[in-house]
Amino acid sequence: MSYFKHDSAYVDDGAAIGAGTKIWHFCHVQAGAKIGENCILGQNVNIAGDVVIGNGVKIQNNVTVYTGAQIDDYCFLGPSCVFTNVTNPRSEINRHSLYEKTHLKRGATLGANSTIVCGTTLGRYSLVAAGAVVTKDVPDYALMMGVPARQTAWVSRHGHILAKVGALDGIYTCPESGLRYELKAGTLRCFDLDEDALLPETMRQGVKTYDELKGVQEFCKWHS
Ligand SMILES: CC(C)(COP(=O)(O)OP(=O)(O)OC[C@H]1O[C@@H](n2cnc3c(N)ncnc32)[C@H](O)[C@@H]1OP(=O)(O)O)[C@@H](O)C(=O)NCCC(=O)NCCS
Repeated sequence: MSYFKHDSAYVDDGAAIGAGTKIWHFCHVQAGAKIGENCILGQNVNIAGDVVIGNGVKIQNNVTVYTGAQIDDYCFLGPSCVFTNVTNPRSEINRHSLYEKTHLKRGATLGANSTIVCGTTLGRYSLVAAGAVVTKDVPDYALMMGVPARQTAWVSRHGHILAKVGALDGIYTCPESGLRYELKAGTLRCFDLDEDALLPETMRQGVKTYDELKGVQEFCKWHS
Protein backbone atom coordinates (compact mmCIF):
# COMPACT_ATOMS: atom_id res chain seq x y z
CA MET A 1 0.00 0.00 0.00
CA SER A 2 1.64 3.23 -1.10
CA TYR A 3 -0.81 5.46 0.75
CA PHE A 4 -1.34 5.94 4.50
CA LYS A 5 -4.55 4.98 6.26
CA HIS A 6 -5.15 5.41 9.99
CA ASP A 7 -6.33 2.22 11.70
CA SER A 8 -9.73 3.78 12.46
CA ALA A 9 -10.48 4.52 8.77
CA TYR A 10 -12.26 2.23 6.28
CA VAL A 11 -11.29 1.99 2.63
CA ASP A 12 -13.69 -0.34 0.81
CA ASP A 13 -12.50 -2.86 -1.75
CA GLY A 14 -12.78 -1.31 -5.17
CA ALA A 15 -11.71 2.17 -4.10
CA ALA A 16 -8.56 3.45 -5.82
CA ILE A 17 -6.17 5.61 -3.79
CA GLY A 18 -3.05 7.29 -5.21
CA ALA A 19 0.44 7.11 -3.77
CA GLY A 20 1.30 9.48 -0.95
CA THR A 21 -2.31 10.13 0.05
CA LYS A 22 -3.06 10.25 3.80
CA ILE A 23 -6.42 9.17 5.20
CA TRP A 24 -6.91 10.17 8.84
CA HIS A 25 -9.15 9.10 11.73
CA PHE A 26 -12.69 7.79 11.15
CA CYS A 27 -12.76 8.31 7.37
CA HIS A 28 -14.72 6.10 4.98
CA VAL A 29 -13.81 5.80 1.31
CA GLN A 30 -16.51 3.82 -0.50
CA ALA A 31 -16.14 1.29 -3.32
CA GLY A 32 -15.69 2.91 -6.71
CA ALA A 33 -14.23 6.16 -5.41
CA LYS A 34 -11.03 7.33 -7.08
CA ILE A 35 -8.61 9.53 -5.13
CA GLY A 36 -5.39 10.86 -6.67
CA GLU A 37 -1.88 11.16 -5.32
CA ASN A 38 -0.70 13.23 -2.35
CA CYS A 39 -4.17 14.09 -1.08
CA ILE A 40 -5.08 14.60 2.59
CA LEU A 41 -8.39 13.47 4.07
CA GLY A 42 -8.81 14.94 7.55
CA GLN A 43 -10.84 13.40 10.35
CA ASN A 44 -14.33 12.08 9.60
CA VAL A 45 -14.29 12.49 5.81
CA ASN A 46 -16.63 10.32 3.75
CA ILE A 47 -16.02 9.80 0.02
CA ALA A 48 -18.96 8.18 -1.78
CA GLY A 49 -18.65 5.69 -4.61
CA ASP A 50 -18.08 7.10 -8.13
CA VAL A 51 -16.54 10.31 -6.79
CA VAL A 52 -13.36 11.31 -8.63
CA ILE A 53 -10.75 13.36 -6.77
CA GLY A 54 -7.55 14.61 -8.42
CA ASN A 55 -4.03 14.97 -7.07
CA GLY A 56 -2.94 17.22 -4.20
CA VAL A 57 -6.48 17.77 -2.89
CA LYS A 58 -6.85 18.74 0.81
CA ILE A 59 -10.09 17.87 2.56
CA GLN A 60 -10.55 19.20 6.07
CA ASN A 61 -12.49 17.54 8.89
CA ASN A 62 -16.14 16.50 8.64
CA VAL A 63 -16.73 16.62 4.89
CA THR A 64 -18.87 14.19 2.89
CA VAL A 65 -18.26 14.20 -0.84
CA TYR A 66 -21.37 12.68 -2.43
CA THR A 67 -21.74 10.72 -5.66
CA GLY A 68 -21.82 13.17 -8.56
CA ALA A 69 -18.91 15.26 -7.35
CA GLN A 70 -15.75 15.72 -9.38
CA ILE A 71 -12.91 17.44 -7.54
CA ASP A 72 -9.96 18.41 -9.73
CA ASP A 73 -6.29 18.75 -8.75
CA TYR A 74 -5.27 20.99 -5.84
CA CYS A 75 -8.77 21.84 -4.64
CA PHE A 76 -9.16 22.71 -0.95
CA LEU A 77 -12.34 21.68 0.87
CA GLY A 78 -12.67 23.61 4.12
CA PRO A 79 -13.92 22.06 7.34
CA SER A 80 -17.56 20.96 7.39
CA CYS A 81 -18.31 22.21 3.89
CA VAL A 82 -21.38 20.57 2.39
CA PHE A 83 -22.05 18.99 -1.01
CA THR A 84 -25.50 18.04 -2.32
CA ASN A 85 -26.57 15.80 -5.19
CA VAL A 86 -30.36 16.06 -5.45
CA THR A 87 -32.04 19.45 -5.90
CA ASN A 88 -35.45 18.31 -4.70
CA PRO A 89 -34.88 15.42 -2.29
CA ARG A 90 -37.87 13.48 -0.99
CA SER A 91 -37.58 10.50 1.30
CA GLU A 92 -40.36 8.55 -0.48
CA ILE A 93 -38.87 8.94 -3.98
CA ASN A 94 -35.77 7.06 -5.10
CA ARG A 95 -33.51 9.20 -7.26
CA HIS A 96 -30.35 7.14 -6.94
CA SER A 97 -29.93 7.04 -10.72
CA LEU A 98 -30.50 10.79 -11.02
CA TYR A 99 -27.70 12.24 -8.94
CA GLU A 100 -26.71 15.71 -10.14
CA LYS A 101 -23.14 16.78 -10.74
CA THR A 102 -20.92 19.24 -8.94
CA HIS A 103 -17.56 20.03 -10.50
CA LEU A 104 -14.75 21.84 -8.72
CA LYS A 105 -12.09 22.83 -11.22
CA ARG A 106 -8.39 22.92 -10.49
CA GLY A 107 -7.36 24.86 -7.41
CA ALA A 108 -10.86 25.86 -6.25
CA THR A 109 -11.29 26.47 -2.50
CA LEU A 110 -14.41 25.98 -0.40
CA GLY A 111 -14.49 27.92 2.86
CA ALA A 112 -15.49 26.42 6.18
CA ASN A 113 -19.14 25.49 6.44
CA SER A 114 -19.99 26.56 2.89
CA THR A 115 -22.70 24.72 0.95
CA ILE A 116 -22.61 23.86 -2.74
CA VAL A 117 -26.01 23.31 -4.31
CA CYS A 118 -25.67 20.57 -6.95
CA GLY A 119 -25.61 21.17 -10.70
CA THR A 120 -22.90 23.79 -10.35
CA THR A 121 -19.37 24.15 -11.69
CA LEU A 122 -16.83 26.14 -9.70
CA GLY A 123 -14.11 27.67 -11.84
CA ARG A 124 -10.38 27.29 -11.50
CA TYR A 125 -8.88 28.96 -8.43
CA SER A 126 -12.26 30.31 -7.35
CA LEU A 127 -12.65 30.91 -3.60
CA VAL A 128 -15.88 30.43 -1.67
CA ALA A 129 -16.05 32.35 1.62
CA ALA A 130 -16.82 30.70 4.92
CA GLY A 131 -20.54 30.01 5.27
CA ALA A 132 -21.47 30.94 1.70
CA VAL A 133 -24.15 29.05 -0.24
CA VAL A 134 -23.23 28.57 -3.90
CA THR A 135 -26.30 28.23 -6.15
CA LYS A 136 -24.86 29.02 -9.59
CA ASP A 137 -21.76 28.42 -11.68
CA VAL A 138 -18.72 30.33 -10.46
CA PRO A 139 -16.18 31.99 -12.79
CA ASP A 140 -12.46 31.21 -12.59
CA TYR A 141 -10.71 33.24 -9.82
CA ALA A 142 -14.01 34.58 -8.42
CA LEU A 143 -14.39 35.30 -4.69
CA MET A 144 -17.94 34.31 -3.72
CA MET A 145 -19.53 35.46 -0.47
CA GLY A 146 -22.84 35.29 1.31
CA VAL A 147 -26.19 33.55 1.07
CA PRO A 148 -26.87 33.17 -1.81
CA ALA A 149 -23.22 33.56 -2.81
CA ARG A 150 -22.44 36.56 -5.01
CA GLN A 151 -19.14 37.43 -6.58
CA THR A 152 -17.52 40.27 -4.65
CA ALA A 153 -14.00 40.26 -6.11
CA TRP A 154 -11.35 38.55 -8.22
CA VAL A 155 -8.68 36.63 -6.34
CA SER A 156 -5.25 35.39 -7.34
CA ARG A 157 -4.05 31.82 -7.31
CA HIS A 158 -2.50 32.68 -3.92
CA GLY A 159 -5.92 33.76 -2.61
CA HIS A 160 -5.50 37.56 -2.51
CA ILE A 161 -8.04 40.06 -3.75
CA LEU A 162 -6.82 41.57 -7.02
CA ALA A 163 -9.82 43.74 -7.84
CA LYS A 164 -13.38 44.26 -6.74
CA VAL A 165 -16.04 42.80 -9.00
CA GLY A 166 -16.89 45.32 -11.71
CA ALA A 167 -13.33 46.71 -11.79
CA LEU A 168 -11.91 48.09 -15.02
CA ASP A 169 -10.23 45.76 -17.49
CA GLY A 170 -6.48 45.75 -16.99
CA ILE A 171 -3.52 44.02 -15.42
CA TYR A 172 -3.53 43.26 -11.69
CA THR A 173 -0.56 41.93 -9.71
CA CYS A 174 -0.77 39.50 -6.80
CA PRO A 175 0.89 41.08 -3.75
CA GLU A 176 2.26 37.75 -2.59
CA SER A 177 3.59 36.08 -5.73
CA GLY A 178 4.09 39.06 -8.04
CA LEU A 179 2.22 37.12 -10.75
CA ARG A 180 0.28 39.32 -13.13
CA TYR A 181 -3.34 38.66 -14.08
CA GLU A 182 -5.34 40.14 -16.92
CA LEU A 183 -8.98 41.07 -16.42
CA LYS A 184 -10.70 41.35 -19.78
CA ALA A 185 -14.42 41.38 -20.54
CA GLY A 186 -15.39 39.65 -17.31
CA THR A 187 -12.69 36.97 -17.43
CA LEU A 188 -9.50 36.79 -15.40
CA ARG A 189 -6.44 34.90 -16.61
CA CYS A 190 -2.91 34.56 -15.33
CA PHE A 191 -0.51 36.42 -17.58
CA ASP A 192 2.73 34.87 -16.34
CA LEU A 193 2.10 31.16 -15.67
CA ASP A 194 0.44 28.20 -17.28
CA GLU A 195 -2.66 27.81 -15.12
CA ASP A 196 -2.52 24.03 -15.37
CA ALA A 197 1.13 23.77 -14.38
CA LEU A 198 2.32 23.28 -10.81
CA LEU A 199 3.39 26.44 -9.05
CA PRO A 200 7.18 26.67 -8.87
CA GLU A 201 8.43 25.41 -5.48
CA THR A 202 9.60 28.93 -4.52
CA MET A 203 6.02 30.21 -4.77
CA ARG A 204 4.50 27.50 -2.59
CA GLN A 205 5.60 28.69 0.85
CA GLY A 206 3.49 31.38 2.50
CA VAL A 207 5.52 33.94 4.45
CA LYS A 208 3.07 36.74 5.20
CA THR A 209 -0.47 36.63 6.57
CA TYR A 210 -3.57 37.66 4.62
CA ASP A 211 -3.82 40.91 6.59
CA GLU A 212 -0.16 41.84 6.06
CA LEU A 213 -0.69 41.71 2.30
CA LYS A 214 -4.19 43.16 2.20
CA GLY A 215 -4.46 46.47 0.40
CA VAL A 216 -0.99 46.22 -1.11
CA GLN A 217 -2.56 45.30 -4.44
CA GLU A 218 -3.93 48.84 -4.75
CA PHE A 219 -0.39 49.94 -5.54
CA CYS A 220 0.38 47.41 -8.17
CA LYS A 221 -2.35 47.56 -10.76
CA TRP A 222 -2.61 49.46 -13.98
CA HIS A 223 -5.41 49.70 -16.44
CA SER A 224 -5.47 49.29 -20.16
C1 LIG B 1 -14.10 36.13 2.44
C2 LIG B 1 -12.71 36.20 3.05
C3 LIG B 1 -11.69 35.56 2.08
C4 LIG B 1 -12.28 37.63 3.35
O1 LIG B 1 -12.60 38.52 2.31
P1 LIG B 1 -12.35 40.08 2.51
O2 LIG B 1 -13.03 40.82 1.41
O3 LIG B 1 -10.90 40.34 2.72
O4 LIG B 1 -13.16 40.35 3.84
P2 LIG B 1 -13.00 41.49 4.93
O5 LIG B 1 -12.46 40.87 6.17
O6 LIG B 1 -12.30 42.71 4.38
O7 LIG B 1 -14.51 41.87 5.16
C5 LIG B 1 -15.26 42.64 4.23
C6 LIG B 1 -16.71 42.52 4.60
O8 LIG B 1 -17.15 41.18 4.31
C7 LIG B 1 -17.64 40.54 5.50
N1 LIG B 1 -17.22 39.15 5.46
C8 LIG B 1 -15.98 38.64 5.62
N2 LIG B 1 -16.00 37.30 5.49
C9 LIG B 1 -17.29 36.96 5.25
C10 LIG B 1 -17.95 35.72 5.03
N3 LIG B 1 -17.27 34.57 5.04
N4 LIG B 1 -19.27 35.75 4.77
C11 LIG B 1 -19.96 36.91 4.78
N5 LIG B 1 -19.38 38.12 4.97
C12 LIG B 1 -18.06 38.14 5.22
C13 LIG B 1 -17.01 41.32 6.66
O9 LIG B 1 -17.80 41.21 7.83
C14 LIG B 1 -16.99 42.71 6.09
O10 LIG B 1 -18.29 43.27 6.17
P3 LIG B 1 -18.51 44.85 6.44
O11 LIG B 1 -17.88 45.56 5.25
O12 LIG B 1 -19.99 44.98 6.48
O13 LIG B 1 -17.80 45.15 7.72
C15 LIG B 1 -12.70 35.49 4.42
O14 LIG B 1 -13.47 36.20 5.36
C16 LIG B 1 -13.18 34.05 4.39
O15 LIG B 1 -14.37 33.75 4.50
N6 LIG B 1 -12.20 33.15 4.22
C17 LIG B 1 -12.41 31.70 4.26
C18 LIG B 1 -11.81 31.15 5.57
C19 LIG B 1 -12.04 29.66 5.64
O16 LIG B 1 -13.15 29.19 5.57
N7 LIG B 1 -10.97 28.90 5.76
C20 LIG B 1 -11.12 27.44 5.82
C21 LIG B 1 -9.86 26.73 6.17
S1 LIG B 1 -9.02 27.29 7.58
